[in-house]
Amino acid sequence: MTALTLSTAGAATLRADALVVGVAKGAKGPVVAPGAEAVDKAFDGKLAAVLETLGATGAEGEVTKLPSPSGLKAPVVIAVGLGSVPEKDEAYAAETLRRAAGNASRTLAGAKKAAFALPIEASEDAEAIAEGALLGAYAFTAYQGLDKKDGKSGPKLPLAEVALLGAKPRDKAYKAAAERAVVLTEEINRARDLINTPPNDLTPEAFAAVVAAAGKETGVKVQILDEKALLKGGFGGILGVGQGSENAPRLVKLTYTHSKAAKTLALVGKGITYDSGGISLKPAGHNETMKCDMSGAAAVFAAVVAAARIGAEVNVTGWLALAENMPSGSATRPGDVLRMYSGKTVEVLNTDAEGRLVLADALWKASEERPDAIVDVATLTGAMMVALGNRTFGVMSNDDAFRTAVHEIAEEVGEQSWPMPLPAELRKGMDSPTADIANMGERMGGGLVAGLFLQEFVGEGITWAHLDIAGPAYHEGAPYGYTPKGGTGSSVRTLVKLAERIGAGDLG
Ligand code: BES
Ligand code: MN
Ligand code: ZN
Repeated sequence: MTALTLSTAGAATLRADALVVGVAKGAKGPVVAPGAEAVDKAFDGKLAAVLETLGATGAEGEVTKLPSPSGLKAPVVIAVGLGSVPEKDEAYAAETLRRAAGNASRTLAGAKKAAFALPIEASEDAEAIAEGALLGAYAFTAYQGLDKKDGKSGPKLPLAEVALLGAKPRDKAYKAAAERAVVLTEEINRARDLINTPPNDLTPEAFAAVVAAAGKETGVKVQILDEKALLKGGFGGILGVGQGSENAPRLVKLTYTHSKAAKTLALVGKGITYDSGGISLKPAGHNETMKCDMSGAAAVFAAVVAAARIGAEVNVTGWLALAENMPSGSATRPGDVLRMYSGKTVEVLNTDAEGRLVLADALWKASEERPDAIVDVATLTGAMMVALGNRTFGVMSNDDAFRTAVHEIAEEVGEQSWPMPLPAELRKGMDSPTADIANMGERMGGGLVAGLFLQEFVGEGITWAHLDIAGPAYHEGAPYGYTPKGGTGSSVRTLVKLAERIGAGDLG
């Protein structure tokens, strides 16, 4: 885990392996961003000119490495692009700083300590830089180089220490910002680890054990319903999905309460530890990354624990619906009817539409406690990826104002999302001749159809939103900003901020 320190040391005198500075796109070429004045001075005020000679423009995503002149303790300077110079009286956007810091950290894999001298005007900037640096340093190396005993020839380890320059270590707001960034990124990185862990190791039972251990560590209450308890409780959706697997399902409940909290937010996560499609088997080419199908549960887990560690003044309950979707002689068949926890019956037409089945049970269970709001998070449909691409999650809700709020909070924390409708006319496509509803409807608008299915399992009158994170949960392309390959931890920042807002009485 990468450590974070706030330092009052000057950029020139601090001992570190590298100094990170910002370079922006000016009207007449690259310009050195505020925060790096001492570094520029060591270059005789010619850092921008040197960068231009090296081909730097200041564009976002750009990383330029150069050796330090005498006068700087750190041997290397890393200039990260910040895009256009902000308008007069405007600051760099938080997400710009977050991504630039992430690019720097990723470049610094294998290094011990880097000092970040990026533009900081307020504690929010320090928070964004810390978040980007700590998220960008992430690497999943648990399964690599295990045969290399010398500890050197294995994979490069994440940058060990980030020192933020220009932040005020004794200022309350800066201290809180740094603490929040550390907690949030530790939990996001823990979610990433879970998502990246191969499905032969991360079974529902193993996932539940990780949550139980985290509960002990942080004081969050963890209750686990195993297959026997699920059978006794009548959780037909979770059991129906899990019954084809040797690895039995679990429903895990996390409870965080604050003594002064007036509101309760319930979070529900889809936790399919592997989605083969079941009897409606996915073809090759569609199942290689399906260990990521528990990303919603990982996000909910991370968000509840982060809210607890931050001490947010709100009650947060997390429900993780964990199952493995496999084909076998005991698997649910297309045509089977499941009796769900709510009492509704569902005709399973396609066993690959399994997420909505496990979520339905967890949503109804969560509803019984009458929380002020429920948000579910799921890698639910390929259709949402077709609609919004790989970086944007869809937000659906039974409440227009709540959907808008979730979308705006996501934007504020640097997560791309978009509001999606729940068109009532798509409901009839799920009419079943045999059961109360089928688990599949029209192909067109498949993401919205899934949302409409879930809505049937939300308790009457409860404000609810559904985040379909199928696109952004797992990143298959080249890393960028603070986003690594593999599990991303999508939606955790949105969920935590939403919990804080609800606690502050700003919502619902
Ligand atoms: N887990 C998948 C959705 C998914 C696809 C997530 C690709 C991430 C990447 C989900 O369980 C699924 O298979 N959905 C089906 C539903 C359909 C059968 C109605 C889909 O989207 O094709
Ligand atoms: Mn599926
Ligand atoms: Zn799935």
